[in-house]
Amino acid sequence: MVTPPTEKAQIAALMARMTLPEKIGQLVQADLCCVTPADVRQYHLGSILVGGNSGPGGNDFALAPQWLKAADDFWAASVDTSQGAVGIPIIWGIDAVHGNSNIIGATLFPHNVGLGAAHDPALIERIGAITATEIRVTGQEWTFAPTVTVPQDYRWGRAYEGYSSDPRLVASYVGAMVRGLQGPPDQRDLLARGKVIASTKHFLADGGTKDGVDQGDADIAETELRDIHGLPYGPAVENGVATVMASFSSWQGVKMAGNRSLLTGVLKDRMDFGGFLVTDWNSHGQVAGCTNDSCPQALEAGVDMYMAPDTWKAIYADLLARARAGTLPIDRIDDAVRRVLDVKSRLGLFGAGKPSSRPLSGRFDLLGAPEHRAVAREAVRKSLVLLKNQGVLPIKAGGRLLIAGEGTDDVARQSGGWTITWQGTGLGNDKFPGATSLYSGFRQAVEAGGGSVELNADGNYTRKPDAAVVVFGEKPYAEFQGDRATLALDSDLTGPYQTMRKLKAQGIPVIAVMLTGRPLYTNPALNLADAFVVAWLPGSEGGGVADVLVGDGKGRPRFDFTGSLAARWPLTPNMREGVLYDMNFGLSYASPAPGPWKPLREVDASQAMDSRTWFTAGRAAASWSLLVEGINGTADETRITTVPAEALGGRVKITALDYRVQEGARRFTVTGGPAAIALRNFSPVNLDRETNADVLLLFTARVFGAPESAALTLVGAKGSGSLPVSLTPGDRFVRYGVALKCLRGRGADVTALTKPFVLSTQGAADIALGEVRLGMDAEVVLPCPA
Ligand code: BGC
Ligand code: BGC
Repeated sequence: MVTPPTEKAQIAALMARMTLPEKIGQLVQADLCCVTPADVRQYHLGSILVGGNSGPGGNDFALAPQWLKAADDFWAASVDTSQGAVGIPIIWGIDAVHGNSNIIGATLFPHNVGLGAAHDPALIERIGAITATEIRVTGQEWTFAPTVTVPQDYRWGRAYEGYSSDPRLVASYVGAMVRGLQGPPDQRDLLARGKVIASTKHFLADGGTKDGVDQGDADIAETELRDIHGLPYGPAVENGVATVMASFSSWQGVKMAGNRSLLTGVLKDRMDFGGFLVTDWNSHGQVAGCTNDSCPQALEAGVDMYMAPDTWKAIYADLLARARAGTLPIDRIDDAVRRVLDVKSRLGLFGAGKPSSRPLSGRFDLLGAPEHRAVAREAVRKSLVLLKNQGVLPIKAGGRLLIAGEGTDDVARQSGGWTITWQGTGLGNDKFPGATSLYSGFRQAVEAGGGSVELNADGNYTRKPDAAVVVFGEKPYAEFQGDRATLALDSDLTGPYQTMRKLKAQGIPVIAVMLTGRPLYTNPALNLADAFVVAWLPGSEGGGVADVLVGDGKGRPRFDFTGSLAARWPLTPNMREGVLYDMNFGLSYASPAPGPWKPLREVDASQAMDSRTWFTAGRAAASWSLLVEGINGTADETRITTVPAEALGGRVKITALDYRVQEGARRFTVTGGPAAIALRNFSPVNLDRETNADVLLLFTARVFGAPESAALTLVGAKGSGSLPVSLTPGDRFVRYGVALKCLRGRGADVTALTKPFVLSTQGAADIALGEVRLGMDAEVVLPCPA
């Protein structure tokens, strides 16, 4: 990125007029959750963002015109010079990671894991261009994309945000996506051309952490760091990417946001990255010696802008105080400001006028425009990977087709995380106007050929079908909520296997369609079904699946499969036990007719647990213990392993109860006095990150007899927090949620929890516990008294 001399001179002149507070303001980015236009005016903030759970006026579901209106309001505040400020226009960043995916009605492309399977860089550039257009419509200037991670362990919950585990494939996509979003590397005046700025993330080795733990440590050699995770950054810089986001993760124990030798030494100096570096959501707070409120180390290491969503005021004040005291090098501040202003200048922001006045702004007809959806649908077709076809595909358009399983008519489920909401949860089809679910895609294709479609989740039907599509797979998740201990499909998602079995027993050919963010052990489905198609997370244009699976009236294919695996498919839930399908595997209609299917070995995958699940199916997770204790804590505790059991001298009886699976819950019958059900981890658990992200502690309980009073406590190394909870008897299990933030506010040391769950009761009580985990999907959120 080279700034032409005239613009350089303009920026220098501008900087000469800027006060120190104005300069510091340019280095700080606040989230819409926690900032107003008045704040922007007062603090001269350089940028705002909208996190996955934010939206204009606190509304995640705000409609497109409200986004544009908010853009105007923040812009107007930023350029207000009435109080003597120089008035630098603000830029707004958004996670448009698979289309302008925060906005209702936008075209949603397949997530990157699917795009990788398409092996088609030219398609990626068109997707980038459409995404830029749809972002421009709602007034933002900057997307936090593309994710150029190179995941090496698909237990990582963000693996689906990456194109491939093969760095060469990722590197072949990066330039295309950056050009699609920004235009050619030397192009300027991006806003006038309907472009936005991109951000390659997360630098560096976010996909290289040990065991695929989100925000973990990549304990790898420098050659691996460079040749695997670093490879995509070459083409990113060559193609003029305007910003890079520093990763939450560490390399060899050092958090990236504070790694001077990689941020400054490698990226800026050696690779000659000329744009600016932004941190990730309070990630500066994880740098050694830093807190969310104070971290000069990040700027010193080479960060140019702090993503300080809810902490911007403290960060601003801290940087300013240090700058005034002379302890923060002014050269570094000036360099960072210059980088931010260079990018703004490249956007053509200084002369662009208010957001709603710019080209494409307010062209709401372009959000989800038919020609955009057509490209997304093409991407869906190209992303499909056929793993098995014993002669049942293509489906004959004229016949009777049954659609069964889960997620058949559910656009949210087929779109995954980072869709309207952060985790992509809590969304009905009404939030996706103009989208096509898998079911409607099949119906259109089959009816167009004179056939009929019946929809029934459990695989029941009114007239025996000629074939059945059974959809199954993962539910939406984002970031750490998607981390898993193994590559097994969660056991509560394997219900459709039964449906497949049942249909097969009735002689009905079964076509399994899997919605997933990653390759998973699915041998039972591969064995059961006659055909198996991986659809990944296709997004809003589910019709692309039927395009390829449903043939014409004569049973000839309309489109062939061209996708192939961009990551290896495991043989068992443990990748170390071998590969079932290698990189680039994928069948097509042109493949030679298969021989008889050789059944794959099936293993017990039910042990697999989400690393955020501490108790389920009647068992505590590995390294966790289920305890019953009295008021003396450890002195009178009983560890519950097998049932029936007794504790507290017979005052508590523990038995099994069915919940989801046979004996999936533990029932605690207390005859009287104080008693507590607790979960303890072998080593203290750090939930700082989850707490900042508004995650809930969820416990699923059925109350047979309510105690006189109850409380929930989180016991931490340096403090505990308690909350009174009211439990009412009922005839079913209820998933209660408590905000971790609430318990932190009440004293819990969330950075080192020894017992992150203690449910204590007074008097007689009778309570069954089905599950304890972290998540967002509470049925009842328990109030947090002030
Ligand atoms: C994620 C980033 C994202 C940012 C803003 C972070 O938690 O790691 O990928 O761009 O939030 O939503
Ligand atoms: C995400 C944000 C999200 C927030 C929820 C963060 O980790 O990156 O996009 O809105 O958590 O509080």
